[in-house]
Amino acid sequence: MILVTGGAGYIGSHANKELTLAGYETVVLDNMSYGHEDFLKWGVYENVDLGDLDSLRKVFQKYKIEAVMHFAAFTYVGESVEDPQKYYLNNLKNTLNLLQVMNEFKIKKIIFSSTCATYGNPQEIPITETHPQDPISPYGKAKLMVEQVLSDYSIAYGLRYVSLRYFNAAGADPDGDVGERHNPETHLIPLILDAAAGKREDIKIFGTDYTTHDGTCIRDYIHVTDLADAHIKALKYLENGGKSEVFNLGNGNGFSVKQVIEEARKVTGKEIKSTETDRRPGDPPVLVGSSKKAREILKWQPKYDNLTEIISTAWEWHKKDNADMM
Ligand SMILES: NC(=O)c1ccc[n+]([C@@H]2O[C@H](COP(=O)([O-])OP(=O)(O)OC[C@H]3O[C@@H](n4cnc5c(N)ncnc54)[C@H](O)[C@@H]3O)[C@@H](O)[C@H]2O)c1
Repeated sequence: MILVTGGAGYIGSHANKELTLAGYETVVLDNMSYGHEDFLKWGVYENVDLGDLDSLRKVFQKYKIEAVMHFAAFTYVGESVEDPQKYYLNNLKNTLNLLQVMNEFKIKKIIFSSTCATYGNPQEIPITETHPQDPISPYGKAKLMVEQVLSDYSIAYGLRYVSLRYFNAAGADPDGDVGERHNPETHLIPLILDAAAGKREDIKIFGTDYTTHDGTCIRDYIHVTDLADAHIKALKYLENGGKSEVFNLGNGNGFSVKQVIEEARKVTGKEIKSTETDRRPGDPPVLVGSSKKAREILKWQPKYDNLTEIISTAWEWHKKDNADMM
């Protein structure tokens, strides 16, 4: 069985579905701090906190776990600056707990949700895996520390890992089974869709004087189902004896904030009011990754790599998820 930590969250639930479709049995481990009961649609569920070593051990005793996909983490970059302890305890220390128990039970394969935030301010675009890692937030630092721990453990204990550095996950399951639901929401596309649905008055554009074609920040959006598929390919890679590796997962095409809003207007047919305001500190103008390595080694090929599909799957989910308000 595959242990999916954080499987009641956004990306973990999509991966859980794709794992099930690919014929794997799954155990979802989530403490529901940010998870959703209605995302628990596949596999079996264990309500366990990664901070609780004894309960964690019981999960490994109860199921025959072959590999772990580790999504569980706190994910708010801004909050990690205000309350770094919360992030180091959950994203670093609790990951050490997981690795400790994996070691005790001799589980040697893990796929880790890392992030482009480990790179810090980009020195060149597109960002490749060899770009220097100099994260600027405790969130990014804790993720980098886990990558470093994985590297040391792989040398010492024969653990094999794949660290996947995601760019901006977006979109929703094309069948509408699960989708994006963060509370609070900080991601651009769901915020724009909130404005389209009348849940918020407008969408704020932070900075219109960046050195980009339309002055707004450019980001790399990767469809969550493509992310999930990359996890399965990474798992198969480890199953086939692949060595520990890190891969970027982005779609290689950057879109500006204004382009995303414009596309959302087309997809939803709604006006979507936008308000231009000052830059936010710490936002680099362009963050776009190269996923050439994942394409070559994992044979990963994103299927939903255009903005229209990303936003339309997100919109279909958003309408369903907010049906009472629309
Ligand atoms: N969303 C993105 O664009 C993005 C980008 C880069 C990396 N990531 C990483 O991907 C992973 C998943 O992100 P997401 O957007 O799905 O977040 P999410 O908040 O929707 O999912 C995380 C899940 O982990 C669970 N969890 C947190 N701490 C736990 C603990 N101690 N024990 C058990 N369960 C715990 C939460 O309840 C939640 O269900 C995270 O590791 C995140 O850092 C996300």
